[in-house]
Amino acid sequence: MANYDLVVIGTGPGGYVCAVRAAQLGMKVAVVEKNATLGGTCLNIGCMPSKALLHASEMFEEAGHSFAKMGVGVPAPKLDLGAMMNFKQQGIDGNVKGVEFLMKKNKIDVITGKGKIAGAGKVEVAGADGKAQSLETKNIVIATGSDVARLKGIEIDEKRIVSSTGALSLEKVPQKLLIVGAGVIGLELGSVWHRLGAQVTVVEFLDRILPGMDGEVAKQFQRILEKQGFAFKLGAKVTAVDTSGKTLSVQVEPAAGGKSETVQADVVLVAIGRVPYTEGLGLKEAGVALDDRGRVKIDSHFATSVKGIYAIGDVVAGPMLAHKAEDEGVAVAEILAGQAGHVNYDAIPGVVYTTPEVSAVGKTEEELKQAGVAYTSGKFPFTANGRSKVNQTTEGFVKILADAKTDRVLGVHIIGREAGEMIHEACVLMEFGGSAEDLARTCHAHPTRSEAIKEAALAVGKRAIHM
Ligand code: FAD
Ligand code: NAI
Repeated sequence: MANYDLVVIGTGPGGYVCAVRAAQLGMKVAVVEKNATLGGTCLNIGCMPSKALLHASEMFEEAGHSFAKMGVGVPAPKLDLGAMMNFKQQGIDGNVKGVEFLMKKNKIDVITGKGKIAGAGKVEVAGADGKAQSLETKNIVIATGSDVARLKGIEIDEKRIVSSTGALSLEKVPQKLLIVGAGVIGLELGSVWHRLGAQVTVVEFLDRILPGMDGEVAKQFQRILEKQGFAFKLGAKVTAVDTSGKTLSVQVEPAAGGKSETVQADVVLVAIGRVPYTEGLGLKEAGVALDDRGRVKIDSHFATSVKGIYAIGDVVAGPMLAHKAEDEGVAVAEILAGQAGHVNYDAIPGVVYTTPEVSAVGKTEEELKQAGVAYTSGKFPFTANGRSKVNQTTEGFVKILADAKTDRVLGVHIIGREAGEMIHEACVLMEFGGSAEDLARTCHAHPTRSEAIKEAALAVGKRAIHM
């Protein structure tokens, strides 16, 4: 029986980062992973493969549509989907190897098999070869992540009715792709297949896309996607999919109920969210409490209802994002080492990696209104930003929301190219409790798209220069 200071169950971005930080702090650490590869959802079937396909499909689209106007003459690009999938796989493999390297470098034992908590301080691992192992440990961190949410009565076969996992590995470009859910997965993977030639229709239950993002940003984003060729059916739900024919017959009904219509599709992508994954972990028997949505219940120190058992990442409350899971992994390792590990949930950025990208940190206008906070808003469009003009990529804007009394920045929302990289100066500012004035007086290199952030900050005080 092996003895550890910490056993982490799951090697997604939450689990493996937690293990590395704990090893850095001098703990003897093991990770348990049921999959053949390390890295969890993010590296294998999430962030990484989706970003590889977003990048490759964007290049395909650019080569076909934007090169000529810059004087770059190339023949019409031809799609080799097999090679594109290969490119994706190389990206996954490179990242998975990176995690293997980090485990070795930090002397972390990797135990392959399904972990089950047999009480505080005890983890049993059932290997794929049928062999069982028992681990003794001072502490356990549950980092088992999440799984696809399913639609009642609609069976995902990962061929014609797919989740994000199947949508990352389609063997050919569907002529008609119907997506259920206008959230992050629907819009990112919809973009991939739309760029490669699919007709995309998105059916969304709510009357808007990207719930949780700033309403003004979502509205403009929807218009841009419609201009690209996306079709949206908002306030609608899919009630059934008939798989008997050559194409799928999808029943779409108003969200509130009423007359349904039939829409034909070659592939249906179900992207209605994700659910915490706790199957087979033995939580009930171990006495680890869940909340009403099946997430592991934790306190502000990531501690569950059982002493010595902690939980982080997608399996607990909060945004289901890789960087949130990572930061929680670091925080819990530091807490176990007697330090003051902490995550500031008010400054976690969110990015949608489409073209243009959408990024945000902090509060939306809707949230501020609902909380009755008096705020001022400064907005600056990329049409007035010099670099965007010369590159002819002027879609979108930056919006900064600041406290009306103190000028402290409460939220930053960007829609535009490279928005996902640009958001981080706002994150740093907000971590330091900075004001719009601080941002407005910070020198920004010219010509950059980031100057639009400075101008939006100036616009909070009604003194933008280029507008
Ligand atoms: P996971 O990454 O889900 O890892 C959990 C691990 O635990 C898995 O490897 C699983 O096999 C293992 N496990 C589970 N139970 C057991 C057990 N009993 N024993 C042993 N091992 C077990 N987030 C972003 O921030 N940016 C993005 O661009 C992004 N893109 C995404 C794209 C897609 C298509 C999807 C599906 C998700 C995306 N996400 C993105 C979300 C991101 O993947 C998750 O937030 C993140 O992976 C959560 O990390 P985690 O460590 O909590 O869990
Ligand atoms: P999501 O929560 O972002 O979006 C789901 C959408 O489906 C919502 O708009 C919801 O209103 C809608 N919906 C729910 N039930 C429905 C129904 N029956 N019919 C029609 N619409 C319905 O979830 P998504 O896109 O599945 O992503 C899962 C998680 O993965 C998210 O929490 C996200 O944070 C994470 N992710 C993050 C990415 C990023 O950071 N770039 C990329 C992809 C995923």
